[in-house]
Amino acid sequence: MRIAVFSAQPYDKVYFEQENAHHQQTLVYFEQRLNRTTATLCQNFDAVCAFVNDELNAEVLTQLKSQGVRYIALRCAGFNNVDLAAAKTLNLPVVRVPAYSPESVAEHTIALIMTLNRKTHRAFNRVRECNFALNGLLGFNLHGKTVGLIGTGQIGLATAKILNGFGCKLLAHDPYENADFIALGGQYCDLATLYQQADIISLHCPLSAESHHLINAEAISQMKQGVMLINTSRGGLVDTHALIQGLKSRKISALGLDVYEQESQLFFHDHSGEIIDDELFERLLSFPNVLITGHQGFFTEDALTQIALTTLNNLDQLERQQTCPNELTQNI
Ligand code: NAI
Repeated sequence: MRIAVFSAQPYDKVYFEQENAHHQQTLVYFEQRLNRTTATLCQNFDAVCAFVNDELNAEVLTQLKSQGVRYIALRCAGFNNVDLAAAKTLNLPVVRVPAYSPESVAEHTIALIMTLNRKTHRAFNRVRECNFALNGLLGFNLHGKTVGLIGTGQIGLATAKILNGFGCKLLAHDPYENADFIALGGQYCDLATLYQQADIISLHCPLSAESHHLINAEAISQMKQGVMLINTSRGGLVDTHALIQGLKSRKISALGLDVYEQESQLFFHDHSGEIIDDELFERLLSFPNVLITGHQGFFTEDALTQIALTTLNNLDQLERQQTCPNELTQNI
């Protein structure tokens, strides 16, 4: 099979080549994102392997199909960037990697919480300049604090397990209750209760039409004064304008983001020599209590190995059996 791998970074090649030793597919790597322009590169490819910021709307999917592409393999869990209805109409199966390593994102979530709380990023710089003053570095004990998780699927649960070890009280909101979360001592509640009671709120639900801007001005107004907010899920879950107002009014005392609604223009590339043409992002960076990472929650050796393995297995299964358990259907 000839597979066009889009948004390919050097580390993708390393892990895919390693795994492809067992598959012997022809992998061609394109650094560019997949969109209506780059879709023209897919002539004579059987499959397209895409990542979080590649565009798989109806127009791009139609173009791919007309060039002979037979399968779409997402090398991620989220699929908000794919028009599944169009894929179905075009008879273009879409597979994904549903759970490569929930712990990778859960542990990054904890890294954001711990860094924002104990300000180790600021302490690092101070101590390098022999500034041992503690002013401004005050944190709080996680032990005994209430954490509200929105979404208790694979990543939400993995996060809950770690927080349980810290001695946090766990609240969650999810349309489907997870027995493992309840077994940890976690309690489900409605969003209003979660907003009222949580000292830390962390988002672990997918982005969909219903969850778009779930965290908006109205939601923030219901939260505890001084809440810490963490989003390692998808940028579109939060309204960035509302976050900035929440930070300015001191309602939000700390904000950790691994994702950003307009991240496709920024993340995964080095823009350090450029002027960033995004006022909202620049405003976020200006707050001392905001910590942003560039969608690196998934970025561990374990996860990259699993992503390559599952993606190539998914395509093998589609080719051999015309079906795959990791195929996305419209009503997932
Ligand atoms: P999952 O499918 O195992 O769990 C998602 C949970 O969210 C489910 O229990 C579902 O019922 C719940 N849910 C759906 N809509 C909801 C809503 N409106 N409110 C509350 N809960 C809702 O997914 P998983 O593996 O835990 O991933 C969660 C999200 O994390 C993904 O959708 C993806 O956007 C993001 N992600 C981020 C990564 C990163 O590198 N930062 C890497 C992988 C995933």
